[in-house]
Amino acid sequence: MEERGKHIANFLKPEMVEFLVNYINLSKRVSKTSNTNKYLEGDGQSPDAKFVSYGDIAIDALLATYLPKIQEVWDKPLYPSFSYIREYKAGTGLELHRDRIGSDVTCSVKLTGPPFPFTLMRGDESFPSDHYTISLGDALVWNGNLYTHGHGDIVTQEDAIHLLLICTEYEDQMYDKRPHLGLPPETREGKEGYDYKDPTYGHDETNDFLTTRNTNDTTT
Ligand SMILES: [Fe+2]
Repeated sequence: MEERGKHIANFLKPEMVEFLVNYINLSKRVSKTSNTNKYLEGDGQSPDAKFVSYGDIAIDALLATYLPKIQEVWDKPLYPSFSYIREYKAGTGLELHRDRIGSDVTCSVKLTGPPFPFTLMRGDESFPSDHYTISLGDALVWNGNLYTHGHGDIVTQEDAIHLLLICTEYEDQMYDKRPHLGLPPETREGKEGYDYKDPTYGHDETNDFLTTRNTNDTTT
C-alpha cells in the first residue's frame, strides 16, 4: 500500500531550524511586550497552545521558498495556501480530525520538542492507521482532506513548536483566498471578521470535519 504520509528527513537544515526557533521565540516576546498580537494563545483546534500565528510574513515566505521541495514528493501540482505556527503546550496534543479544502495538503515541520507520534488514518481501508514520528527539521506531508490525522490520545511531554506549511491542489484556493501571502486571516475572501479561534474553524462537524467543495462552505 502506498504510504499515506511522505516523510522528508532533514527538510530544514539545522541552521534554518535554529533561525526559525529564534524568530518564533522573539515573535512571542514582541507580542507579549507590545500586546499587539491578538492570536498569541490557543486556537480552536488546540485551545491550550502556547503560541499560534496564521500567515506570518516570514513563515509565508518560507512556504513560498520550500514549495518546490514539498512538490517533489507530491504527484499533483501544488499551490501555496498559508502557513501556521503552533507551539503545543506540554501535556497536550491534537485531536483526530480532517481539514478543509484550501488546507488540503499539509506539510508539518517539527522545530522543537521530543518525538511526538502522528497518526494518519482512513476508516474505509483495511489498515486503519499509520504512525509517523519525525525528528527536528523533518517534515511530514499528507492529504488532510483524505486522511483523518492528529495525535489522538498521545500528548507531548514537553512544549513543542511545529510549523504547518499548507498547500492546496486547487488553484482557486491559492493563498487561502487572500490577495497574496503574508496577510492575516480576516483578509480571506468572504471571511472578514472571521475568528479562527472558533472551534469550528476550518472544519465541518456534519461530515466528520471534512469540508468538501460540495457542502455548504460556511466554516472555511
Ligand atoms: Fe489538520
